[in-house]
Amino acid sequence: MGDNRILSGGVNLQISEGGGCQKRDWLWGVPPCKPTGMHVPTLICRKREGEELSAQEIAFLIDGYTCGEIPDYQMSAFAMAVFFQGMTPVEIAALTRAMMQSGDCFSHRDGRLPVVDKHSTGGIGDKVSLVLAPLVACAGCWVPMVSGRGLGITGGTLDKLEAIPGFNVQVGLDHAAAQLDDLGVVMMGQTERFCPADKKLYALRDVSGTVPSIALITASIMSKKLAESLDRLVLDVKYGSGAFMQTREDAEALAASMVAVGQEMGVEVHAVLNPMHEPTGRAVGNALEVIEALECLDGGGPTDLRQVVLELAEKIAGVSREALESLLDGGAARQRFDRMVAAQGGDPADLARLHEIHRAPIIHEVVANSAGVVTQVHAGMVGQAALQLGAGRAKASDGVDFAVGFDRLVKCGETVREGQVICRIHARTDEGCEMAEAAIRAAVKISKI
Ligand code: URA
Repeated sequence: MGDNRILSGGVNLQISEGGGCQKRDWLWGVPPCKPTGMHVPTLICRKREGEELSAQEIAFLIDGYTCGEIPDYQMSAFAMAVFFQGMTPVEIAALTRAMMQSGDCFSHRDGRLPVVDKHSTGGIGDKVSLVLAPLVACAGCWVPMVSGRGLGITGGTLDKLEAIPGFNVQVGLDHAAAQLDDLGVVMMGQTERFCPADKKLYALRDVSGTVPSIALITASIMSKKLAESLDRLVLDVKYGSGAFMQTREDAEALAASMVAVGQEMGVEVHAVLNPMHEPTGRAVGNALEVIEALECLDGGGPTDLRQVVLELAEKIAGVSREALESLLDGGAARQRFDRMVAAQGGDPADLARLHEIHRAPIIHEVVANSAGVVTQVHAGMVGQAALQLGAGRAKASDGVDFAVGFDRLVKCGETVREGQVICRIHARTDEGCEMAEAAIRAAVKISKI
């Protein structure tokens, strides 16, 4: 069985035969576990020894954990066994299915349009979903997009949407179904009844050192996406300093695993690998990113953002790139976004005033100390600085500050003059602003021409 751990630094190690996880029971004088059917310690031991579990055994573990019969300590031992031993593609598909079926799934009515979605593994300044969802709905699809909140340096779509006053992401499946019928798009958070197994298991993995496992990440992401009952899904798998996956190799392994699960479950899944060495677009921070997404929805905005949106949308929309471009340039996607805002409790008139609604007390321009060409805008450092300004959350229970972050950020390859603005900092305090300026100066490298 292939090991599918991700280690910090992004290296994928292989466990050689007989190395690592030996039959330790014997060493400690305890007889090896005997498989006795649905006995939790036995299943943990068998996975620890690298055996393949059946779909029924995996479903037994997930169902038992979700309803509270299997305690955290047993489930964290199981997650650690998976972390070290990995899972076969068949096991990963079984885990995904069990997690997906732990709660409610979308059930779309007969005669519906193609149901599609996109998932990104997250990055810095990644506001692609805000543009793509209404765009693809305009192209004649239904997009029931269930998204998450930001954690660590990467932002979350829900936090960005909540920067729009009144926007309600806590809608139930009934509301979502009605909105899909009407507008073809709904952007919402995971409800209590949507993939509860993932909610519980992800929180456990977070505190038990078992997040970076390809098998567990695949099942976590795909269970939520497949519970949307999709026909097509595009995965935007990022790699680089500002991404969950640091190396292209790890991103490829995750992409292959997620595509295999999609195939196993009868959904057309496309994976696109995108570097996340510099932030997407020029804005990082919740309200600032919504403003930039609106520019893109109006047919403008940064080129890289528009390109990623079109590249991903083309995979699922069922129309040509030219058709998608005219939906952006002709205002249809923007109109659909505004209607979605109204349907979910916001006032579209507020969108033009987001700058004022979320105006940070300090807006400071950082200027280039010398002329040259920009050779680096380190996404990880920019993300870290945004987190410290308060735009993100260090732990799940933290709140976020909608107003803070960066805009007018330079892009790699641009030439700058001495004294030219390379970034604007939006900060709540002088100390925050000073920290952010030092971070931006370290993140942006300008080389003499
Ligand atoms: N995002 C998820 O939803 N799950 C993971 O395990 C990792 C990232």
